[in-house]
Order: sequence, then structure tokens, then C-alpha cells
Amino acid sequence: MIIATTIKEVREQVAAWKREGLTVGLVPTMGYLHEGHASLVDASVKACDRTVASVFVNPTQFAPGEDLEAYPRDFERDCRILTEHGCDMVFHPAVSEMYYEDAATFVEIQSEMPKQLCGQTRPTHFKGVTTVVAKLFNICTPDKAFFGEKDAQQLAVIRRMVRDLAFGIEIVGCPIVREEDGLAKSSRNTYLNPEERQAALCLSKAIFAGKAMAEAGEKNADAIVAAMTEIVKAEPMAVIDYISAVDGVTMMPVTEIKGNTLFAMAVYIGKTRLIDNFSVEA
Ligand code: PAF
Repeated sequence: MIIATTIKEVREQVAAWKREGLTVGLVPTMGYLHEGHASLVDASVKACDRTVASVFVNPTQFAPGEDLEAYPRDFERDCRILTEHGCDMVFHPAVSEMYYEDAATFVEIQSEMPKQLCGQTRPTHFKGVTTVVAKLFNICTPDKAFFGEKDAQQLAVIRRMVRDLAFGIEIVGCPIVREEDGLAKSSRNTYLNPEERQAALCLSKAIFAGKAMAEAGEKNADAIVAAMTEIVKAEPMAVIDYISAVDGVTMMPVTEIKGNTLFAMAVYIGKTRLIDNFSVEA
């Protein structure tokens, strides 16, 4: 696997592949990879001739006081996982390679969409995500890019950016990967101590219960959200940020299941903020 740290190296390698007529898949990550990331690499390797993964803890998507410095990092281990899964090149830039000190250009969706759900408590987060992802798209010029459905709002925001700015890149959403006991895989799960790890199961329990209600024909989104909320509230270590039902494309709140509906939650277990979701089609 090629390890590239500069934009120039990535551009030259991707251009060489394109001259050979090969297609390129991009898997953007912040590293500390788990099976969820590996499933994105697998999907890209299957769908594209060449796969590039980026490993970059993007400072612009963290607000002051969030976990930028504490965010787990292990680039050697990431490289082993990427190699095992058939990734062809990893892009691991320094912050100075990605952002000029006086960088003043950002990509921001100016609608209610990024203000919903996670945007309520992380108002600058999606501006950082769209900016870095747009930049990664410009650097790697992939044919397809692969994102996890666990970050459902991020996926919706990126689809919107790609549509609005005519990126000409196919965005592929990949299913949530869970631990055996149901907890959605996340790099942030490493923050949990054993007691918190047990308490964190209230998220997936609520997700599975809500999904079962929807699959049994319940159309009242508020009733499903109420049932999910009750399950999370029964866990003394859990503090709810939000549990909401929204339109799967616009991210705007809904009270009835219509079309694609997303049930999403963010819950603090101790200091760790975890997210999970499911979606249903009416
Ligand atoms: O989902 C992530 O890990 C990040 O938000 C992303 C898409 C790599 C942008 O930094």
C-alpha cells in the first residue's frame, strides 16, 4: 500500500491510475479504524479498481472543548488494517498540508439541514466536515466515495453538497457495523470504561425496539421516539442529547413515518457522546 502524505503524491498516483482507465474509490476516515471502516474499504475494493483511504483527524469539525486532542490515533495499526483489506493508497496528511494558516474558504450548507440533530449541540461541525470532504474530493477525484450510515446526518449533508456543487462523485452509504452485543462500532467506544461500555447498550436496545415497532406497522413517529426515549432514560448513566425522527433526506423533524424516515439519537455515557440510528421506508 502506498503511504502518501502530500496532495501532490495523491494527485500524481490517481492521475496515473486514471490514465490506465482505472476507477478510484475514496474512503475518508479520521483513523483509529474498526470493522465499520473496514467494511467501507471492502465495499470500495469490490466496486472500484483502486481504493484510496484518507486518515486525517480534521480539526475544523471539532469545536473548542471537544475531543480533538484526545481523539484516538494509531496510524501503524490503521495501515495494517487497510493493507489487509486491499486498500491501494492511504493519504495521511499533516494539518499544515490540508489547511493554510490563513485558510479562509469553507464549504457550508446554508439551510436548516446541518442545524438539526447533531447540529443543535455541534453548530460548526458540519461546516468542517463539508469543507474537508470537498477538499478530499478535489485532491483524490474519486469516482465513488464510501461513508458509514452510522453518521446518517453526515451522509445526508455530503449527498446534498455533492448535488449542489455538481461533484460528479457517486456517494455510497454502507450499513452500520455493530459489536456482538449490539453497540454500534465507533472509534469513540475506546473512551468507555467497563461500566460505561455496559451502559452504552441502552442506545442499541432503543434502536432495536424502535425498529421493531416501525416494522410491526407503527406509523406514529412520536410514539416510536417516546418508546426509545423511555429505554434510554431507564439507564442511569445515560444523558440524552437528542432522540428524534426526521425526514431521511432533508433531516427536518417528522411526526409520522412517510417516505424515508430516519430515527436518530445522540446520548452521553459519562463524557462520551455516542450516536446511533435506523431508517425505515413507508
Ligand atoms: O466520518 C468521519 O470520520 C469524518 O467526519 C470524515 C468524513 C472523515 C471527515 O473528516
